[in-house]
Amino acid sequence: MKTLTVNLSGAPYPIHIGSGLLDRADLILPHLAQPDVAIVTNTTVAPLYLDRLQRTLSASGVRSMAIVLPDGEAHKTRESLHQIHDALLAQRRERNTTVIALGGGVIGDLAGFAAATFLRGVPLIQMPTTLLAQVDSSVGGKTGINHPVGKNLIGSFHQPRLVLADTATLDTLPVREFRSGVAEIIKYGLIRDLPFLDWLDQHLEALMRRDPDVLSQAILEACRNKAEVVALDEFETTGVRALLNLGHTFGHAIEAGTGYGTWLHGEAVAAGTLLAADLSERLHWITPADVARIASLMHRAGLPCRAPNLGVARYLELMASDKKVEAGKIRFVLLKALGQAILTREAPAESVAAVLSPENGRFIGSIPESPA
Ligand code: NAD
Ligand code: GLY
Repeated sequence: MKTLTVNLSGAPYPIHIGSGLLDRADLILPHLAQPDVAIVTNTTVAPLYLDRLQRTLSASGVRSMAIVLPDGEAHKTRESLHQIHDALLAQRRERNTTVIALGGGVIGDLAGFAAATFLRGVPLIQMPTTLLAQVDSSVGGKTGINHPVGKNLIGSFHQPRLVLADTATLDTLPVREFRSGVAEIIKYGLIRDLPFLDWLDQHLEALMRRDPDVLSQAILEACRNKAEVVALDEFETTGVRALLNLGHTFGHAIEAGTGYGTWLHGEAVAAGTLLAADLSERLHWITPADVARIASLMHRAGLPCRAPNLGVARYLELMASDKKVEAGKIRFVLLKALGQAILTREAPAESVAAVLSPENGRFIGSIPESPA
């Protein structure tokens, strides 16, 4: 097992990464206010891991209830949030009940927001079971739900007390979901860690085979980067944390424009990162060879290298309803160099349009398409 700390001045917390951690009550117990937990999970993860976690807890005298939600991004809604609140109230849970999120990023964000809002906030533990959740969403305290108008528009910051990433749970993860997580891993190399990008270049095939050593090293390095960024800018106010959104402005438009769930989040981030790379090259910040290197990494990871052709106007409309718009200007995370992302609101409109048009852009498909 490897352990990192998210060094927040108020309440630092550990991230444990290793195989078989769902059996380790000794890692969980010190972070419970009372021996009482509510496990939030979904209909896919529950049959795989819920019973095991509940046995681990009950063997140590911890009372647990389970809230099993329907699976999918389409259920990251206020209805699911209310379902969690209703269950907690029906079972008379109290301020010292700890909510455990057992699942991927959807469950982590939903359960996290429920924990942030139930009785004005109860303790939270993240137990991520997808690669994407282990390398990104379980760390850093962003929680929330989608709104019909856009993704993650309702939410709050609510840091967990512990992140327990059992890498053995990834054995059951479908390949498409695994690849989606790899997109977020590549992201850290691109935005701030060139040595890690070089390491990924050398180890990508082993990572895709889920070689245990390479996989745990990749998760560790990704979490180290995420933890450092979160410690520097917990509430995304200085621009440092915003760099984690490389590819996300385009990516969120892809997700919303094709209907949530058609493109997985990581797939949309991969294609969105290539659009951001294209735009960065048009601004003469990175070279065609840099762009080709990013495209090659995405391709080797089995990720989509072309975004759907939604039309320039529709992309701009979707991007304009993103959270990252300020004073009507779309904020892009672009690459000054490989390993160095920057935040800008000054991308020329004609360059953005060129990137998004199938005639001029390199990474736009000719028809709307799903990567499945
Ligand atoms: P997800 O939660 O939908 O999980 C993907 C699929 O894998 C689901 O069907 C799930 O049930 C299944 N699954 C989970 N664990 C499994 C396992 N071990 N074996 C088999 N199947 C398993 O998707 P995701 O990619 O984990 O997360 C995406 C979500 O995360 C999006 O809603 C995104 O907005 C959010 N996100 C949040 C942050 C943040 O900082 N809070 C960061 C990135 C992404
Ligand atoms: N996934 C972006 C963030 O946590 O800030």
